[in-house]
Amino acid sequence: MAIEWTEDLAVGVTIIDDQHKELYQRINQLLEACNQSKGREVVGETIKFLEDYVVTHFGQEEEYMQKYNYPDYPKHKGYHTEFIKSFQELKARFDADGPGAHIVIMTNRIVVGWLNSHIRNVDKLLGAYLKDKALV
Ligand SMILES: [Fe+2]
Ligand SMILES: [Fe+2]
Repeated sequence: MAIEWTEDLAVGVTIIDDQHKELYQRINQLLEACNQSKGREVVGETIKFLEDYVVTHFGQEEEYMQKYNYPDYPKHKGYHTEFIKSFQELKARFDADGPGAHIVIMTNRIVVGWLNSHIRNVDKLLGAYLKDKALV
C-alpha cells in the first residue's frame, strides 16, 4: 500500500515540505520495488538513495536549527541520529537477507511510522518556529 504525503503533514517551510514529499515518494519506490519482487540491485539502489537523502534532509533541518538558534536543536538532532541508527538495521538486514517481504515490514515499522510521527510532532514545531520568527 502506498503511503501519501498529505497537506496535514505540511510544516509550512517550502524546502522542508518538498524534501518530505520526496522522502514519501522514495519510500513508495522502495516498497514497490520489494512488492514487485525486483532484484537485489534495484531494491539496493532505492535503499541507498533513501539513506543518502535522509542524511541530506536531516542536514537541511539541522542547518536551519543552528543558524537560527533553535532552542530544541540538541533534542531534535538526537531524534535524527536515532533514526539513522534504525535505518542502518534495515540496511544490515537487506545486506544479509536481500529484498523481500521482511524489508517491506521493516520499512513500514521503522521508516513510515517514525517519519509520520516525527513530522507531526517534531518537524512541525521547527516549522512553526521558523515561520513565527519570519526566518525563512
Ligand atoms: Fe526533523
Ligand atoms: Fe523532516
